[in-house]
Amino acid sequence: MPASPIRKLVPFADAAKKRGIKVLHLNIGQPDIATPQVAIDSMHNLDLKVVEYSHSAGNESYRKGLTEYYEKHGIAVTPDQIIVTNGGSEALLFGIMATLDPGDEVIIPEPFYANYNSFSVAAGAIVVPVRCVIDDGFALPPIAEFEKLITPRTRAILICNPGNPTGYLYSRAELERLRDIVKKHDLFLFADEVYREFCYDGAEHVSALTLEGIEANTILIDSVSKRYSMCGARVEL
Ligand SMILES: Cc1ncc(COP(=O)(O)O)c(C=O)c1O
Repeated sequence: MPASPIRKLVPFADAAKKRGIKVLHLNIGQPDIATPQVAIDSMHNLDLKVVEYSHSAGNESYRKGLTEYYEKHGIAVTPDQIIVTNGGSEALLFGIMATLDPGDEVIIPEPFYANYNSFSVAAGAIVVPVRCVIDDGFALPPIAEFEKLITPRTRAILICNPGNPTGYLYSRAELERLRDIVKKHDLFLFADEVYREFCYDGAEHVSALTLEGIEANTILIDSVSKRYSMCGARVEL
């Protein structure tokens, strides 16, 4: 397993702090916003006698609440289409392991969130990067670039939208081009949308789950670690 490049920096940051240097962490995805009070209150008011096993897909009441959250974002899902995991990382790992065999290839626009590499290596899958360039703000490369990389072992395309680390937000037209190639080659589309709520200047996020024709191919990855609205209870900032 390759070490996470983010975690590799930790000892350097720790040593610098010990030398009295102020370190600004630009590495982990920790939003600088308060955790919603409703979440903090729920933790404090928890009245459990036994911490027991829950449903393996996640408590149904929670999955129902999530469908309301997604509905507000124009995403139609049912509770039985959701699997609750310990964070987006576990969802990525389980998703990749469930769909890719050792030696299978996943195409990922680069630069990408470093752990996509670790999760793929853990599954024995091979990351095939497709280069995005700063000159056009890291836009989706032409579909011809994807076509060139497709082999009999290609099983999936993984996108991060909005992108970590680029911040790039895919347009509907770009996503539809991706949809066409996913459909043509019957691939899985992993859409990591954990930063869905971090869109600026009035730009609107388009979810991969709103693309018609690839509903059965699309796996949406999400995480409450980046959320400031929860299950419909939008927190005023
Ligand atoms: C793009 C992206 N996907 C997934 C994750 C993992 O999310 P979690 O912290 O819920 O495991 C992160 C975390 O920073 C991330 O930046």
